[in-house]
Amino acid sequence: MSGKPDRLAVLVSGRGSNLQALLDAIAGQRLDAGIVGVFSNQPAADALERVAPPLRWSLDAKQCSGRAEFDQRMADAIAERRPDWIVCAGYMRILGDDFVRRFAGRMLNIHPSLLPKYPGLHTHVHAIEAGDTEHGASVHFVNEHLDAGALIAQAVIPIIPGDTPDALAARLLPREHRLLTAVMRLAVAGRLAERNGKAEIDGHCLLQPLRLDCDGSLMP
Ligand code: GAR
Repeated sequence: MSGKPDRLAVLVSGRGSNLQALLDAIAGQRLDAGIVGVFSNQPAADALERVAPPLRWSLDAKQCSGRAEFDQRMADAIAERRPDWIVCAGYMRILGDDFVRRFAGRMLNIHPSLLPKYPGLHTHVHAIEAGDTEHGASVHFVNEHLDAGALIAQAVIPIIPGDTPDALAARLLPREHRLLTAVMRLAVAGRLAERNGKAEIDGHCLLQPLRLDCDGSLMP
């Protein structure tokens, strides 16, 4: 490690509350990192407004000939900022294999389900309709398959009788913020790595994802 704060590139598509959690943690000196760019496939995303204009980058996919061009342009823009970590924080566009391979081992995603349950969209609806008693969020390394990379950590919340998808999502969101911040603390401390498709903490392969406890710490 260089001793300088790790450089984070954050990918967003919408509201940006997870990005805000990272910004707050950095400002509050709970995360030793700097955001070097916020990248979006949605030029109007509220998330972009959370950082100063020089940090914003966006491209409407309609301006591109296809996924390959979009991915190449965004990947080049990200690489220019020399990030240590690429964090998908509410990024809702599928990333192609070349993009994923270019940043392999240093790209993370937060997803609102207890993966491997419910990859993709509408996770809160799926959890309720399945009659689950628990729901949650996961942070994982990104690989070529949707929401399927090596799991690092999860936050679990109960599903309460009468829960609606919106109520469940709202109750989960603050836990997502703590989960993402906690994982990024591990990452910037140099404690997190991916080897052979598995997550490692301090050089030890994780046999199951870490779990966020009530005070925001990650427990085995
Ligand atoms: C979060 O719930 C995040 O887990 C989810 O989008 C929301 C973004 O909220 N991500 C995905 O569904 C990715 N598959 P935010 O923009 O307020 O951070």
